[in-house]
Amino acid sequence: MAHLHIINGPNLNLLGTRETRFYGTATWAEIEASLQDRYGQEHGLRFFQSNGEGEIVDLLHATRTWADGIVINPGAYTHYSYAIHDAIKAIGIPTVEVHLSNIHARDEFRHRSVIVPACLGQISGFGGQGYALAIAALLQHLTAT
Ligand code: DQA
Repeated sequence: MAHLHIINGPNLNLLGTRETRFYGTATWAEIEASLQDRYGQEHGLRFFQSNGEGEIVDLLHATRTWADGIVINPGAYTHYSYAIHDAIKAIGIPTVEVHLSNIHARDEFRHRSVIVPACLGQISGFGGQGYALAIAALLQHLTAT
């Protein structure tokens, strides 16, 4: 049994109605329910969303005391938050970065993640399913180490 924290950054509370051609029509509540269905029996999942950078940094610090792994979609902070990069490095918990859209096929400013160097890797472009793929990758990593 692993304790995992799934963290969403800014604007991801609007999933379902926000720019659906990039992010799909599933709401976060629906994605969260499907992750609980798939992994919640065997593993402890906690979910968190914040529109604030400092709040995400504080939350990462708090996660240090109980989580085995983190899945994070940092939203637009992906592209410029050295504070979130540093927080992931500081806590040393294996982390996978997720994006619903394929950030490498969109605006140039989205091509670069300043956070992924602090992570095991990145899953991008598979919609809400990306969170399940990230959990699978994290669980595999945790059992291999
Ligand atoms: C996103 C991609 C980011 O560029 C964007 O700012 C988001 C969502 C994604 O899930 O595809 O807010 O992280």
